[in-house]
Amino acid sequence: MDQSTDTNAAIWQSGEIVRAWAAEEKKRELNRAAQRQFMAVLLPFGEQEAFTFLDLGAGTGAASRAILGLHQRSTAILADFSSEMMAAGEHEMQPFAGRYRYVEFDMSTGEWPAAIPGALDAVVTSMCVHHLPDERKQGLFAEIFGHLVPGGWYLNYDPVRTPDPVVEGAWERVSDYYDPDAASRRLHRTPEQQARYDNHVRYVIPLAQQLEYLRSAGFRGIDVYWKQLENVIYGGCRPA
Ligand SMILES: C[S@@+](CC[C@H](N)C(=O)[O-])C[C@H]1O[C@@H](n2cnc3c(N)ncnc32)[C@H](O)[C@@H]1O
Repeated sequence: MDQSTDTNAAIWQSGEIVRAWAAEEKKRELNRAAQRQFMAVLLPFGEQEAFTFLDLGAGTGAASRAILGLHQRSTAILADFSSEMMAAGEHEMQPFAGRYRYVEFDMSTGEWPAAIPGALDAVVTSMCVHHLPDERKQGLFAEIFGHLVPGGWYLNYDPVRTPDPVVEGAWERVSDYYDPDAASRRLHRTPEQQARYDNHVRYVIPLAQQLEYLRSAGFRGIDVYWKQLENVIYGGCRPA
C-alpha cells in the first residue's frame, strides 16, 4: 500500500479522534472485560510473583490495568506513538501509579527505544497489531521474541479477517444479533467514523498468516487461546 493512503498515524495522533475514541471506551470495555481478565490469567505467573511486562500500542492502558490488577507485584511498560492516547492513559492509570511508565515508540519503525529493556518477562498487544502492514507485523513478532527472556510469553488480542465469504456472513449476522444498531451504523457513518473504520480494517489479515509469523519468529506453545467470531487471543512463549 502507498504510504500516503495509510492514515494510521494521522488518526491516532489526532486530538479530536482520540477524544471521540476515549468517550466510547467505557461502553467498549464492558464487552471486553472477560477477554482482558483472560489475558491476565493466561500469563503464567503466580499472583504474588514479581515480573515486568510490555504493553505495545497500549493506548489508555486497558490491557495493562487487567494484568496489574491480577498480578499485584507486576510492573508495566506501556508503549505508544500517540501523545494524545498516552495523556488520556495517564489519567486512567492513576490507580497503578508507581507500577507503570509510558514510553514513546512507533512500532512501524522497528527502532526500539532504549527505555524498553531487552529482557522482558512478557509482552502483550491488544487491538493494535492490525494497524501495521504485514511486513511490520512479521518484523514486530521477531523483535518481541528478541526482547523476551527465555520462557517469556507474548499474547495478542486482535481482530482477524476471513477469506471465506460464508464465514464473514456468519460473523456479521451473529454480531448484529448482539448489537442490533450495528447494521444502521454501518450505513450511516460520519466522515470521521468512516476514516476510523477504513483505518481499522486496512491491514487486518487472516489468523493462519499471523500464527505463521509467530512460528517463524521462533515462538513455541502457540495457540489460539480464545476466539469469538473475528476476535482472537493468540500467543506463545520463547523456549526456555
Ligand atoms: C484501538 S487502540 C487500542 C489501545 C489499547 N491497546 C486497547 O486495547 O485499548 C490502538 C492503539 O495503537 C496505537 N498505535 C497504532 N499504531 C501504532 C504504532 N505504529 N506505534 C505505536 N502505537 C500505535 C494507537 O496510538 C492506539 O493507542
